[in-house]
Amino acid sequence: MQPSFWHEKWDAQQIGFHLSAVNPLLVKYWPQLELDANAQVFVPLCGKSLDMCFLAELGHDVLGCELNELAVQQFYQENSLKVAVSTIAQHQRFHTEQVTIYQGDIFSLDAAEMTATMAFYDRAALIAWPEEMRLAYANQLANLIPANSVGLLITLDYPQAELNGPPFAVSDDWVQANLADDFEIERLACEDVLSENPRFVKKQVSWLTESVYKLTRKS
Ligand SMILES: C[S@@+](CC[C@H](N)C(=O)[O-])C[C@H]1O[C@@H](n2cnc3c(N)ncnc32)[C@H](O)[C@@H]1O
Repeated sequence: MQPSFWHEKWDAQQIGFHLSAVNPLLVKYWPQLELDANAQVFVPLCGKSLDMCFLAELGHDVLGCELNELAVQQFYQENSLKVAVSTIAQHQRFHTEQVTIYQGDIFSLDAAEMTATMAFYDRAALIAWPEEMRLAYANQLANLIPANSVGLLITLDYPQAELNGPPFAVSDDWVQANLADDFEIERLACEDVLSENPRFVKKQVSWLTESVYKLTRKS
């Protein structure tokens, strides 16, 4: 998935992935991470997700990374947050008291920016990558977050041949086979969500499940 794909989506505001409310799975499963309220949370490929506001309201420092500048500007404007902008290496750093977003490519983000991070939240990030790029992303996520960080990963799985991604299908087998070297993996939920996803119903996708994982970065 080339950067131009995402820039074009944001320019055209074709952002069907963006939710107008906080993700109910975040609300339901975040407490299971048992984090201190002030723990810093990394949100890779954050878009302008309202989930960052939910995490900030819990007391967390939120550190996002997002490729597209318009997405970042819209996040701060739409949430009426006054933002300071600076440049750090290859990223623009947008900063408010509780939500900092590094605007640029996650692959050029430096782990030195994230030494205080204790948690992460991946919704529509792993599943945004086609299979040939997915492992590189997962490795970069593992490189960025400190040992013992805990996080939620939300995936979708469906017969990939029946629909083009993104979102791409990520099976439980893929998660177990590719993430187990770097993470302890616990699947917290797996639900049939076909009827809640009109795009998949319209395209006659035969099944669709959504899974929630608790991941712990190994030492
Ligand atoms: C499917 S969206 C999900 C956004 C957000 N997580 C949400 O739940 O609304 C994927 C996002 O990743 C961003 N993105 C794509 N490639 C990226 C990269 N290499 N580095 C940082 N962000 C990237 C895109 O611009 C897009 O906003």
